[in-house]
Amino acid sequence: MKRAATATVDLDALRHNLTVAQTAAAGSRVMAVVKANAYGHGLITIAKALQHADGLAVACLDEAIRLRHAGLAQPILVLQGFHDVEQIALFAQLNLIAVVHHAEQLQMLRDSDSAAIRIWLKIDTGMGRLGFYPVDVREVYQQLKGSSAVQNEVGLMSHMASADELDSPVTAQQLACFNDCTQGLAGERSLANSAALLASPESRADWVRPGLMLYGANPFVSGTAADWNLRPVMSLSSRLMAIKQICKGQRVGYAGSWTAPEKMLMGLVAIGYGDGYPRHAVVGTPLLIAGKRATLIGRVSMDLLNVDLSSVPEAKVGDEVVLWGEGLPVDEVAQSSSTLAYELLCGATKNLELGINGEIGIGNESN
Ligand SMILES: Cc1ncc(COP(=O)(O)O)c(C=O)c1O
Repeated sequence: MKRAATATVDLDALRHNLTVAQTAAAGSRVMAVVKANAYGHGLITIAKALQHADGLAVACLDEAIRLRHAGLAQPILVLQGFHDVEQIALFAQLNLIAVVHHAEQLQMLRDSDSAAIRIWLKIDTGMGRLGFYPVDVREVYQQLKGSSAVQNEVGLMSHMASADELDSPVTAQQLACFNDCTQGLAGERSLANSAALLASPESRADWVRPGLMLYGANPFVSGTAADWNLRPVMSLSSRLMAIKQICKGQRVGYAGSWTAPEKMLMGLVAIGYGDGYPRHAVVGTPLLIAGKRATLIGRVSMDLLNVDLSSVPEAKVGDEVVLWGEGLPVDEVAQSSSTLAYELLCGATKNLELGINGEIGIGNESN
């Protein structure tokens, strides 16, 4: 029996967003970021639909193995690199690119007797996360170039910390730092995430690494995804499962945190935080019922939420309710829930069946 709460991915929208990225990349190659189960959209389905991307980036070896086993032949960058010497052999066998970001990995390369692998050297230019400090880059680069465990060309990469803030000076500072510490070193370069790709042309270099924009969410702290001609890929929807009349002053949901200001119609929707809808969504968070906007009331429960039907008096039990997707950007729901679209997208499909282009029932390939 089909469950009411459903996540559906629109592969046409995904391909459209890839074209937007490719156009903005203006000749730089596009490495589509498909980590975290393609931001919750289904790793293999999404990777196959992104066959025109020049490469794929994942967080860990396990995801890269799944991609190769599914027949994906593009270059695959593994952002965490290898965690031990044994993994290096798998990088060689599967022709994966390993990010090298800390000194212990250099020792692992020295200890490795597997065939030489492809490496991108990661530099911490201000993200304060993975990567060698700029001052160490030349020394590490020379070590990698001299290592028999490393293929000849060494890539150079960094990650942007504040590209989502259009007026932040940090992006330009990171870029200057990167250019300075890599000056004269041979090798392909890559810095730009979605926001930098769209808004900082000088950061595009040889490879851009868009993630969020491919899934149609807004990579900036202001504006909307539509401003950048991006289309939502995931729709999270469910059904109206009950309608009740409530009277003025009636308490709604756990702790009675919301009380009805007047006599009104309330709907109950079959979805909750157990399905990946944010528990912290505030009263007033929008949802679409039969195509019209309505608002959340009370606290979100595990498998239910309450909605004020004043704006949709014609609503009927069984009507489709869209929690985010076409007509209701996930970014709006994220804002009402003090979180980011990244978190909502990644979390929504852990317990739900994933449909493709409206077709439900293919199962969630990742679980
Ligand atoms: C190293 C790296 N590159 C690129 C991306 C893609 O970023 P975005 O989804 O903001 O485009 C990520 C995502 O977190 C990342 O960690």
